Amino acid sequence: MNAVLGSATALDAERLPRHIAIIMDGNGRWAKQRHLPRTAGHHAGVGAVRRTVEFCAKKGITALTLFAFSSENWRRPQEEVSVLMGLFLATLEKETQKLHQNNVRMRIIGDRSAFVPELQERMDAAERMTADNNGLNLSIAANYGGRWDITQAARRLAQEVADGRLSPADLTEQKLEALMSLADLPEPDLFIRTGGEQRISNFLLWQLAYTELYFTPVLWPDFDEQTLSQAIADYAGRQRRFGYTGDQVLQRSESR
Ligand code: IPE
Ligand code: IPE
Ligand code: MG
Repeated sequence: MNAVLGSATALDAERLPRHIAIIMDGNGRWAKQRHLPRTAGHHAGVGAVRRTVEFCAKKGITALTLFAFSSENWRRPQEEVSVLMGLFLATLEKETQKLHQNNVRMRIIGDRSAFVPELQERMDAAERMTADNNGLNLSIAANYGGRWDITQAARRLAQEVADGRLSPADLTEQKLEALMSLADLPEPDLFIRTGGEQRISNFLLWQLAYTELYFTPVLWPDFDEQTLSQAIADYAGRQRRFGYTGDQVLQRSESR
């Protein structure tokens, strides 16, 4: 953290990230440390999800995006995958109403066609129920891959070209971006990965282009308000330059 910023100022609304994206990693190791099956870690991880959502809603954060299941996680033992699917279903059933009461707008990003119909219906229902809420935008990435996201957007633009509605010369970054997941939200300001690994693992590849990255060794089931506040304070102490020089950024903020 920047030494000039005390932790009190660091949490000033002005320096709060508008959009936080998290890779919730370390469930398996958390369980292993306790000589429990990996799936016990996934169950324990639900508590950390609840704490994180509540914290972000309370702080007035605009958007929270959580990586719950990657397009590569199907490679795991079948039993673990099926416990995870059961957990999604149960959590959606149990938590959606409460999220709705708290004005949370929920969506699921990723290729949901791979999920069993019952789970797809639950996902649709949760989105429908919370569609008109204007509080925290909670996005759950499930069977999500950053490469999938870019590919599905490209495929839709290719279709427009094939239909003669778009010429290749008019294919711009903005047009592609508009078709990516989360296009209607501010880009993630702060990315957090728990569990100590320092990689993106095919999460939001396009959307993270200018996101501040924060890695913590804390295992996901142990993630709490304190760890999240630390990440936000660290973020608040950084200078985001977007290609400008540091002096230019200072001048711009002084003239505001
Ligand atoms: C993250 O925890 C949860 C999912 C990927 C679904 P892991 O299950 O990857 O935990 P570790 O990395 O094995 O500890
Ligand atoms: C990334 O974690 C996916 C989720 C947290 C859902 P992984 O544990 O699957 O990532 P790798 O395999 O270690 O890169
Ligand atoms: Mg992992």
